[in-house]
Amino acid sequence: MDRLGGCRPLKAVAIAPGKVILYGEHFVVYNVPAIVMAIDRVVKVSVSIREDGSLRICSDLGFACEYKNGAAKPLMGGKKSVSFLEPVRIAAKTVLDHFDERKGLNIDVYSTIPSSVGLGSSGAISVATVAAVSKVLGHEIDKEQIWRLSLQAERYVHVTPSGVDPLISVYGGLLVWRIQDGSKPKRINRDIDLVVGNTGIQRSTGKFVSIVSRKKTKKIEGISQLMGVMNWISNLALKAFKEMDLVILGVLMNMNHELLKVIGVSHESLDRLVEAVRKAGALGSKLTGGGGGGCMISLTTLSKRAAVCKAIEENGGQPMVVRKNNAGVRAWLVKS
Ligand code: PMV
Repeated sequence: MDRLGGCRPLKAVAIAPGKVILYGEHFVVYNVPAIVMAIDRVVKVSVSIREDGSLRICSDLGFACEYKNGAAKPLMGGKKSVSFLEPVRIAAKTVLDHFDERKGLNIDVYSTIPSSVGLGSSGAISVATVAAVSKVLGHEIDKEQIWRLSLQAERYVHVTPSGVDPLISVYGGLLVWRIQDGSKPKRINRDIDLVVGNTGIQRSTGKFVSIVSRKKTKKIEGISQLMGVMNWISNLALKAFKEMDLVILGVLMNMNHELLKVIGVSHESLDRLVEAVRKAGALGSKLTGGGGGGCMISLTTLSKRAAVCKAIEENGGQPMVVRKNNAGVRAWLVKS
């Protein structure tokens, strides 16, 4: 018998959104405020209990692994599946250890967030995994706990993460947050549509977080001094959101992109899209997320949206209009 008073529920399902960082990526790792928005692209994770005690993880991207007695056996996608699915394994194990449970699990991951391009797919997967595993085990956990438990998997992906990706996936909406705020981000009650341009170049955020960290330690490219500039940009953006001053928000995005170029995390494919959308009439544009490829965002009025999408396509990118997603992570049981 389970806590519902019937047969053990067969499955728990959790949904968590991806994100775009509007201002402050990389700098947020050093306690500078970031402004970040959950988007209408989500991951869904479904989890059921296995009676044989083993762990099986399967992703709709063509990867699957079985974990038994400490060994990982690829079932689909070859050796790459082991590293690709590792954040999911870590997230599930963190929850099992936290609740001192020894159960086996089947975990299925479905995603509408393109992976490794700066839209927070790994953060969303960790968050949804933590929420679904807790749910299927019958443990109720609050949003703060989901965020804290998902940080373990995030460390595998980003090396020294700020925690902003799982945070926005947990809470949803449009938030301003710095590390010292912990699990208490501030909401910005504004709506904004953005056009994302995906260069299609997949890269590792952890690599770029490490590059910035090395430069900061060696005191090159004035990175420490630039922290103050980014702090100023984020605070001005917050004020511009209050007044809904789209022109200033656009100018601040352009300035933010220049800072990201200076610290060495942009890429020629991103710079090309950033320039092209400005020429097509965007109010502002910048790379979003870890950089080095991946995605850029453009702030655009409705009348210029089609031209901006066309400019992205003509310059080798894939355009995608994204809207704010107010719902953070949600998890529920399925009895079928
Ligand atoms: O996961 P991405 O590529 O969206 O980037 C995360 C944002 C960084 O600031 C680069 C890293 C972090 O943990 O804050």
